[in-house]
Amino acid sequence: MTVECLGSPDAAAAVALWAEAGLTRPWNDADGDFGRAVAGPASAVLGIRADGALVATAMVGHDGHRGWVYYLAVADAARGQGLGRQLMAACEEWLVARGIPKIQFMVRTSNQGVLDFYDHLGYVRQDVLVLGRRLD
Ligand SMILES: CC(C)(COP(=O)(O)OP(=O)(O)OC[C@H]1O[C@@H](n2cnc3c(N)ncnc32)[C@H](O)[C@@H]1OP(=O)(O)O)[C@@H](O)C(=O)NCCC(=O)NCCS
Repeated sequence: MTVECLGSPDAAAAVALWAEAGLTRPWNDADGDFGRAVAGPASAVLGIRADGALVATAMVGHDGHRGWVYYLAVADAARGQGLGRQLMAACEEWLVARGIPKIQFMVRTSNQGVLDFYDHLGYVRQDVLVLGRRLD
């Protein structure tokens, strides 16, 4: 399966996939997230299609030092075929190509089940707490 860089026409399909995968929240603007990620030079949304339909996505970006991944999602019917692994590898390649030395991502505390997947891929827990507040 080929990983490609998605563009504005893919927004609706990507956001639908994120919703199906349980990654959207009413207080977050997923369409806005997609639009900003595909518009800027320091971010992208990577995707995989099967028979023309979008079946997997990951948003990747960097702040000049750390690379971040968001919205890793594989359609229910396409899980267990290596697409999640392939997309995480593609995110790493995207960051390495831009000279970024680190990849990291946040996992919601309500999504503990996915930690085994990331453990399996070799990602390790970082000894930090994430602090924040909303600006909108
Ligand atoms: C997590 C997710 C992306 C995995 O995608 P996937 O395409 O099914 O995963 P893969 O088939 O690439 O699996 C890669 C490896 O991880 C293993 N794996 C997959 N899910 C796993 C899990 N929940 N626990 C432990 N191992 C897991 C697979 O067995 C496979 O092992 P192998 O490569 O050694 O054979 C998918 O389940 C998903 O979209 N979940 C909902 C969205 C989500 O929670 N995203 C993460 C947000 S932080």
